[in-house]
Amino acid sequence: MTASIDVAFTPADVRDTGVAVVVDVLRASSTIVTALAAGWRQVLCAADVDTARELRGPGRALAGEQECQPIEGFDYGNSPEALQSAPEAELVLCTTNGTPAIIAAADAADEVIVAALLNLDAILGAVPEGSEVTIVCSGTDGRFALEDAYLAGRLVHRMGGKRTDAALAAEQLAGSYPDSLTPLGQSADAAVLKATGQTADIAFCARESVFDVVPRVTAVEGRLATVGQISDKDNPMDQAKPLLGLSVLRRTLSV
Ligand code: MLT
Repeated sequence: MTASIDVAFTPADVRDTGVAVVVDVLRASSTIVTALAAGWRQVLCAADVDTARELRGPGRALAGEQECQPIEGFDYGNSPEALQSAPEAELVLCTTNGTPAIIAAADAADEVIVAALLNLDAILGAVPEGSEVTIVCSGTDGRFALEDAYLAGRLVHRMGGKRTDAALAAEQLAGSYPDSLTPLGQSADAAVLKATGQTADIAFCARESVFDVVPRVTAVEGRLATVGQISDKDNPMDQAKPLLGLSVLRRTLSV
């Protein structure tokens, strides 16, 4: 059982925490989960387009969106479905809300994992017993996003521990929906996807627990966070002490 569980409905609401679970259901976290499940070795999450462009190199492909549309010169947009094969080892991903939220969460948490409906069960199995958890909703342009709050509530519902008011509210919201597709389809982000001919991504991202993948932030440097799928056994941070990984790294980077 987790010791406590909070929900930050936007990245600005995050306080220092043990484990941050970052969600951006439509679509960045769904894209990261799908890419790692497909065999991309790691996803380099860039805070901005210039940082992403600078990372172009052998063995890497660039993906992302601005206003939900593919970025000029990038190899992929932010549609998870397009990333189901992995012709290169590393994916550089730059999105409006999701990748900056991951980087921001790493500043506040000892450990950061990335959740979508697609890997719901895997995430629930990966949160260490007794930890202080904050679910960080990426939101949309600094505002509440229905689909992220829905997933936050689903996670809260399945985790034990002391809940904050925000966690209780998210749980209540999630419990009011009969299925995942309904809140995703009603969201403002879904409206943009429909208007830009990407409606299929909504149903793709509404599927639950189809990938047994736990993306974790393994390094943060400036405007870039590296996300990989690693077991506790393989993670040198976890071997040192499970929840001290990023705090040690943050200290290292700040000297
Ligand atoms: C974001 O990070 O803002 C989203 O993932 C946008 C999108 O749906 O592509």
